[in-house]
Amino acid sequence: MPSWDSQQYLRFAQERTQPSIDLTARIAIDPPARIVDLGCGPGNSTAVVAQRWPSSAVTGVDTSAAMLATARKDFPTREWIQHDITAWAAATPPGSWPLVFSNAAFQWVPDHSTLLPRLFDAVAPGGALAFQVPHTLEMPHHRLIHEVANSATWRSRFLQPPVSWHVESAGFYYDALASRAARLDLWFTDYIHVLDGPAGIVEWYRGTGLRPYLDLLPDAAARETYLRDYLTALTPLYPRQADGRVLMPFRRLFVIAYR
Ligand SMILES: C[S@@+](CC[C@H](N)C(=O)[O-])C[C@H]1O[C@@H](n2cnc3c(N)ncnc32)[C@H](O)[C@@H]1O
Repeated sequence: MPSWDSQQYLRFAQERTQPSIDLTARIAIDPPARIVDLGCGPGNSTAVVAQRWPSSAVTGVDTSAAMLATARKDFPTREWIQHDITAWAAATPPGSWPLVFSNAAFQWVPDHSTLLPRLFDAVAPGGALAFQVPHTLEMPHHRLIHEVANSATWRSRFLQPPVSWHVESAGFYYDALASRAARLDLWFTDYIHVLDGPAGIVEWYRGTGLRPYLDLLPDAAARETYLRDYLTALTPLYPRQADGRVLMPFRRLFVIAYR
């Protein structure tokens, strides 16, 4: 489990929260009595669902004490629970939540073929399981994190092989949920993030996808050198626009399964 830094994560709060806004806007259910936000992080996604359904009781679930501390500070009246998503899915009674919501968290959780049916079982009749995962494994900004770590220079310096994200195809999620769901909506959205040069891409991933890699390097000097090599690999692939900024296309997969 990588370490989390809510301040680094929220440096791109608007970009990271927009998918929650887009997902929430498409959930077509009656106002849910209660909502769970799995992998709620610092509470930015939880705030989106709470704003759409102000009379719902909203619970945020996350394993990271650091993320939950920020959520509690910013939204002290909501319920925040430190819990693992897989364990939550196994322990939750069937049909008990009208809305099971998750934005940008399931990529950290293994075994989606077991996880997704369990989470869908937790949904109450008339409710929905709604989630979004980044679909960037083939995009250069994501791929290079792994390629640099696997290069001859770096391979032996990782204390153990870093794990990659758990993200499946749209067809996989269709097969996992279609036979159970009354209706299933799946779609991709390509966001284009405008960042301050290639170093902005490094800053973006320092808050997420780089964390498992940085955690496995032995010291600060190794981490800085690895980040420099990642930046060097990125730079030719992200040419600057006329104003000096770079565009980082970022694909996300959305799924809503209605019960
Ligand atoms: C990228 S953040 C997403 C935060 C927020 N939902 C958002 O929309 O910006 C991913 C969050 O998932 C949490 N997480 C990762 N694996 C988890 C697990 N197995 N169980 C619970 N939370 C997990 C992390 O601690 C982190 O706060």
